[in-house]
Amino acid sequence: MTYSKHWQTLYINVNLATMSDGGNSYGEVTQAALAVRDGKIAWLGKESDLPADFSATDSEVVVIDGKGQWLTPGLIDCHTHLVYGGNRANEFEMRLQGRSYQEIANAGGGIVSTVTATRKASEEELLASALPRLAALHQQGVTTVEIKSGYGLDTSNEIKMLKVAGLLADELPVTIKRTFLGAHALPTEYKDNAEGYLDVVCEEMLPQVVNENLADAVDVFCEGIGFSLEQTKRVFDAAQSHNLPIKVHAEQLSNLGASELAANYDALSSDHIEFLDETGIRAMKKAGMTAVLLPGAFYFLRETQLPPIALLRKHQVPMAVATDANPGTSPIHNIHLMLNMACTLFKLTPSEALAGITCHGAKALGMSESKGQLAVGYDADIAVWNIDQPAELCYQFGVNPLSCLIKDGLQVLMHNKK
Ligand code: NIG
Ligand code: FE
Repeated sequence: MTYSKHWQTLYINVNLATMSDGGNSYGEVTQAALAVRDGKIAWLGKESDLPADFSATDSEVVVIDGKGQWLTPGLIDCHTHLVYGGNRANEFEMRLQGRSYQEIANAGGGIVSTVTATRKASEEELLASALPRLAALHQQGVTTVEIKSGYGLDTSNEIKMLKVAGLLADELPVTIKRTFLGAHALPTEYKDNAEGYLDVVCEEMLPQVVNENLADAVDVFCEGIGFSLEQTKRVFDAAQSHNLPIKVHAEQLSNLGASELAANYDALSSDHIEFLDETGIRAMKKAGMTAVLLPGAFYFLRETQLPPIALLRKHQVPMAVATDANPGTSPIHNIHLMLNMACTLFKLTPSEALAGITCHGAKALGMSESKGQLAVGYDADIAVWNIDQPAELCYQFGVNPLSCLIKDGLQVLMHNKK
């Protein structure tokens, strides 16, 4: 393939996994063509059906022979915490010696230890450490990433994290969605005063985040070691009063009913959900929510409780898949590995797994009208893969089959040139 910087591009001799079938299939179109105009997908279908106005003989159009490769939507990692200071390798060692994630958190480690390191780091240092993490995802075909705050836990440091997340978009051609997660853990200065901390979250942090336009959504860690259902409700009320969509870390280590609560607020997604029950699933379905599966955290914490995949399927709740990249429960910056784990650990079908990081990832971010599918009018965020069939993306990892990455119609990465 040749490198293109043109606004009108026609890809011929390609196969498409359009991901327009909600994960029931890949939405395959073989022997296809796809036309890009002004950063959007202008036409796609069988090459033999190509209309005259997209014809390969039009001199305005740059024609690229895809040589039988596969095109998918650019990948979407809809749940990450990839801006943070320090790392928690010491806690990894402690867990291997038998201490649990909860024990370490209750003893003052866990999220709070990353808070100390994040507060110490300057904006420049946070940006420098986050960039290679984002670059790794981008090299794997990711064109949209969600990044949460939640390691600042005071106003200036939460704002600092969100600003750094925004700055990453100037460094790499990746769409960044930011989520305010002030209610991630109790900072030590508010130990035994959760209500006092939530006053700050709701009455100081959130208004400032909104004023400076630093977040697209609000998230809460609702869990025994996080915030109770009542406390979570307070934050949801505040988010709603600012018209910000809601996401929730829910049912990860126990079932507190956070998914059902989030459904009352028409939340975008409930994430983790290993302990989610059918009542919660029904509520999520009714509210049009997406279930975000995080196999990296399940694996890294050696969890045994599987998320209720069969029930999610039964109630047709869309399942997204994400890395949850973070220093405590998923220091894994590999979206291909998530595809593999979603299949091997959670028994998703390969087309469901791929939907999890395309159309359903977009839905979890409220972007299902513009991203996550190859469809006319959608953003031309497209990954080109040197593979024979889409299931290969889930089947192997470690050799990167990405051949080319297109963002808003422009080729921004080329490797494994075919
Ligand atoms: O998604 N569950 C809460 N938050 C993160 C973990 C954060 C951490 O341990 O640093 C998660 O798993
Ligand atoms: Fe998370």
